[in-house]
Amino acid sequence: MQRKYAFLERISPGPINFLFIFTVAAPKGRPEEIMEKTTENQVYAGARLLAESGAVREAGRLLGHAVFVEGLVVEGNHIGRTLGYPTANLRLAGHEQIIPAQGVYVGMVKVGGHWYESMVNIGIRPTLDLEHVTIEAHLFDFNEDIYGEPISIHFLDRIRDEMRFPSLGALKDQLQKDRSESLQRLRAFNLQPKAAEEIIFLKKEGN
Ligand SMILES: Cc1cc2nc3c(=O)[nH]c(=O)nc-3n(C[C@H](O)[C@H](O)[C@H](O)COP(=O)(O)O)c2cc1C
Repeated sequence: MQRKYAFLERISPGPINFLFIFTVAAPKGRPEEIMEKTTENQVYAGARLLAESGAVREAGRLLGHAVFVEGLVVEGNHIGRTLGYPTANLRLAGHEQIIPAQGVYVGMVKVGGHWYESMVNIGIRPTLDLEHVTIEAHLFDFNEDIYGEPISIHFLDRIRDEMRFPSLGALKDQLQKDRSESLQRLRAFNLQPKAAEEIIFLKKEGN
């Protein structure tokens, strides 16, 4: 069991370790229960802390699969379309989910039984003077109307913080850079998820 957490010490000498130790309080119950059930909870709690600090890659390695959120696609402001980067805005499903920190991520989206490479923003979109947090994904090489459809967004790596840009043109230039960066990182992950899979499997350590 120790081995599972060993890499956490390597990647996070700071506050994450501190929080992590706090969360994984000694489990109670019969020995078999402690081994099986609570270890899973501890891993989940650790992954939540990591993801909520933006470390989705490390959270994924801890879980053995990418952190994901799921829900229905709802209408946004349709500004993404005018920028050349239409997005699927997510209304989260009601059950408890791990929501990564605000920021821009590279991910994979599953919709209608197919996987698509994507870049994702979690944030308030300060460039548009908006204030409520949304989760929206731009799917690469995808041009379908999926309003109302269930999707899941799987987070592989964090690209950057969300920022306020002086103009929509400046945001568009940044989205172009994010696209290149995302594609480069996706190549490095070299994923080929099968249609039947509902999660993106990741190696627990290394990578
Ligand atoms: C990968 C990605 C990164 C984004 N980064 C920012 C950002 O840094 N700042 C910002 O104000 N909005 C950012 N956005 C949000 C865009 O402003 C938003 O997609 C656009 O306004 C379209 O919104 P709509 O779908 O409601 O029309 C980002 C969106 C994506 C997909």
